[in-house]
Amino acid sequence: MKDEIAAIILAAGKGERMKSSLPKVLHPVCSRPMLGYVMDLVSELKIKKFTVVLGYGYSQVKDFLKPKTGTVIQKQLLGTADAVKRVLPSLKSFHGAVLVLYGDNPLLKKETIEKLIKRHVESKAAATLLTASIEKPFGYGRILRDKYSSICGIVEEKDADDFQKGIKEINTGIVCFDKDKLLESLKYVKPNNVKKEYYLTDVTAILYKNGDLVESVEIPDINEALGINSRGELAQANKIMQRRIQDGWMKDGVTIVDPDSTFISYGVKIGRDTTIYPFTVIEKDVKIGFRCFIGPFAHLRPGTRLDNNVSVGNFIEVARSRIAGKTRVKHFGYIGDTNIGRSVNIGAGTVTANYDGKTKNVTQIGDRAFIGSDTILVAPVKIGKGAKTGAGSVVTRGKNVADNSVVVGVPAKPLKKQG
Ligand code: UD1
Ligand code: CA
Repeated sequence: MKDEIAAIILAAGKGERMKSSLPKVLHPVCSRPMLGYVMDLVSELKIKKFTVVLGYGYSQVKDFLKPKTGTVIQKQLLGTADAVKRVLPSLKSFHGAVLVLYGDNPLLKKETIEKLIKRHVESKAAATLLTASIEKPFGYGRILRDKYSSICGIVEEKDADDFQKGIKEINTGIVCFDKDKLLESLKYVKPNNVKKEYYLTDVTAILYKNGDLVESVEIPDINEALGINSRGELAQANKIMQRRIQDGWMKDGVTIVDPDSTFISYGVKIGRDTTIYPFTVIEKDVKIGFRCFIGPFAHLRPGTRLDNNVSVGNFIEVARSRIAGKTRVKHFGYIGDTNIGRSVNIGAGTVTANYDGKTKNVTQIGDRAFIGSDTILVAPVKIGKGAKTGAGSVVTRGKNVADNSVVVGVPAKPLKKQG
């Protein structure tokens, strides 16, 4: 069945309402460009034939896509119908169903689209729309039905009269077409609307007038079809996606004490029986082992690797660093570009001074080392296995500390044995 489906992903729009120089589809939802989720959906559906329509900032968007992704460029943003038209020449010998997805719809689930495709194929409709009934339909296209309750058109918010604005059945934008009927109908789409654009939604009325069947599948959860047009909707999508990501981790055996005050990016890895305390932010490209304790108030930035049984506690920021098993970094501090061994104790207030104004330098801390409270490690520097630093010491650049030795003071020097 999937071989007879081609997908078109519309991602050419600038996203005026975002008021941004970044193309809308590249705005991140839980640290991942929203278009990424739509591309995942296409791959989960195993649709092999798909094309992304690019326009505003096309080279930036293309760089984000996998190298072999088929794309076409819509030079002038003349509307969604025009965008679809740009792809059809490449589907000349294809006569199956065309699924249209929008790059600004990152929350759709695979099961929903499967249902849409199934209905479309079984009903042999010319078009099958994914619709929703919502209390606040503002901004969405409204579904128009005739006296037999058959779909006879879609009217956009900006073109709707007062009666139509009261309609609560909306167009999610996601639709399946019979390709040949789509091709034929597109010829009749005219830009006679407030935005002077060629609307894909107008195809519905054209099909209806031609006596073709237009079907629909209603989704119960409008959250899934949220189209992101503004920063407000972006925040809403982040919230919904965040909840999904956290539910996934909890199902896999991770304790999240307070989901509302926790942020976990898309694509991180967390081992079983790890506990995440409130007010923790885990950015992308972070890996956490089994049985770790994270937070409260921890900030794990990209490139953080925690092995099993690590504690990263209160007010700690970690970036581009690896921390081996059983090590504890429990009270405020900064660990950057650092490699910490096993069973190390990092005292309260420890800072790795990794940046000298030009480059970032590496700090190494050996197994079982004990870093005293308020130590500053000026990188590049190496602390040996089992070595100790006294409270308040400043270990200066390049002054490596030998295994099992003790340094104290500012600048830190080996502790002299008292006679
Ligand atoms: C669209 C639908 C509306 C639906 C809503 C759901 C139309 C005319 N309207 O409205 O019925 O309720 O989505 O979210 O389709 N795009 C292009 N080229 C263009 C114009 C747009 O590729 O020339 C892309 C955009 O990047 C975006 C998608 O098409 O991914 C939808 O465009 P957008 O302007 O966001 O449409 P809405 O006003 O949200
Ligand atoms: Ca939209």
